[in-house]
Amino acid sequence: MFVYPYPLIPNPACYNHIVPKQYYIKTYGCQMNVNDSEILAGILEREGYTPAEKMEEADLILVNTCSIRAGAENKGLWFAHSIKSLKEKNPNLIIGLCGCVAQQEKETILKKMPFVDLVMGPQGIDEFAGLLKEVANSSTSLGVNSLQLTASCFKEQTSASRNLPAKRAKSSRAYVSITFGCDNYCSYCVVPYVRGREVSRSMDEILNEIKALDKTIHKEVILLGQNVNSWKVENRQLKIENRLPELLREVSAIAEVAWINFMTSHPKDLSDDILAAMAEFPKVNHYLHLPVQSGSSKILKAMNRKYDREYYLKLIEKIYQKIPDITLTTDIIVGFPGETEADFEDSLSIIRQANFDSVNTLMFSPRPQTAAAQMTDQIDEPTKNARLQKMMTVVENQSLAKNQLLVGKTLDVLVDGLANNGRLAGRTRGNKIVYFDGSSDLQYQIVQVCINSAKSWGLEGGDGIDVG
Ligand code: SAH
Ligand code: SF4
Ligand code: F3S
Repeated sequence: MFVYPYPLIPNPACYNHIVPKQYYIKTYGCQMNVNDSEILAGILEREGYTPAEKMEEADLILVNTCSIRAGAENKGLWFAHSIKSLKEKNPNLIIGLCGCVAQQEKETILKKMPFVDLVMGPQGIDEFAGLLKEVANSSTSLGVNSLQLTASCFKEQTSASRNLPAKRAKSSRAYVSITFGCDNYCSYCVVPYVRGREVSRSMDEILNEIKALDKTIHKEVILLGQNVNSWKVENRQLKIENRLPELLREVSAIAEVAWINFMTSHPKDLSDDILAAMAEFPKVNHYLHLPVQSGSSKILKAMNRKYDREYYLKLIEKIYQKIPDITLTTDIIVGFPGETEADFEDSLSIIRQANFDSVNTLMFSPRPQTAAAQMTDQIDEPTKNARLQKMMTVVENQSLAKNQLLVGKTLDVLVDGLANNGRLAGRTRGNKIVYFDGSSDLQYQIVQVCINSAKSWGLEGGDGIDVG
């Protein structure tokens, strides 16, 4: 038997080097990714890490990537490549790649990016602490971690439970995920492939997370999911299914929650019950982000959206009837395969007809695994660009016109803090940005602001009055 000539006693001086203590997270993508990063930060702080003020000082850098369009994917990967050189200065630096691109590229990422030590898809978050230990331990035993001592996790979401700590942004709004994944398979969209099947978190878990929020900061709760309208859980006691209206009722009953939002809504699942709950519960904001994606029924069919133009416009009419002061925003993709000038005109006209307050205009980007990427009638880049520019102008004019209707009104504004222009920045119950004057003590408070001018991107007001 081989016997070590001396006992293996760890040298504490080495540990100081090797055990990472400071972390830095760079996040791309949607609110769900932002919320995932908050959870990753929560886990790291539970494990004894502290946030690095400067990225260069960090012992661990996580890049939380987004794959929704090629541009988003490239930004995240470019950033990851750009930090590779930091390893030359600090060989103990751990680089982790997580989020939707990590999941999408799981077969190839390690070959393409050998400097990455930890890779993890969005469904692997509950394994994160274990992965981190795996990487840290292997670097401890070998003294270096640039030898591809990689830990990886690309599991499928099997449980809807996620009881993990979160280190939330100091923002008046707190994101709380209520569903994970998506079952809709819109033909352009990568999300179902990278985030897995849709699962709903239990009512108790969601309510406990909200109850535990620091309400001196987080006055607004934003319930998150790719399609929150389809949140449903079994209520074993009553032998029924609870749906979003019941959740809105329960969240409303939590005393310190001031405002409630939910996003994103899918037009096919926005039921009368949900609209009734919005009208009934005063804490639920009269704001809906209801992506239409196209104004052409032909394109909507090719997108597998499961509704047509007529259905959408009828739904909008109903919303305006039931909630007349609703603020309505949407997403529209231009240049989807097969989109003719007439289809594009349909998208322009639905902006006016639905009277949206604001529209995210997005240029179609073919994504791996999706049906639309395989379609043969792709639109050329110059046409896509020209359509995007034209649509952006229409949207800008309409947003300005809608915001001008608010000039002279006094609106409730939840204050986020001091903006770069030296004024206070906040949001209305319709999610519109407002800049106004006031003391920094008003941060995280709801104040009343008289709106005195409108821009396409938001509103400007006079002094804010605290309404306690
Ligand atoms: N679950 C939400 C949001 C999904 S992603 C929903 O169903 O609306 C956010 C937006 O990105 C989508 O609404 C869509 O407009 C856009 N998007 C998704 N895939 C895209 C692609 N391949 N090219 C361009 N835009 C895309
Ligand atoms: Fe993507 Fe459609 Fe799911 Fe939204 S509903 S995440 S667009 S597949
Ligand atoms: Fe992007 Fe993934 Fe969100 S692809 S938009 S980060 S779900």
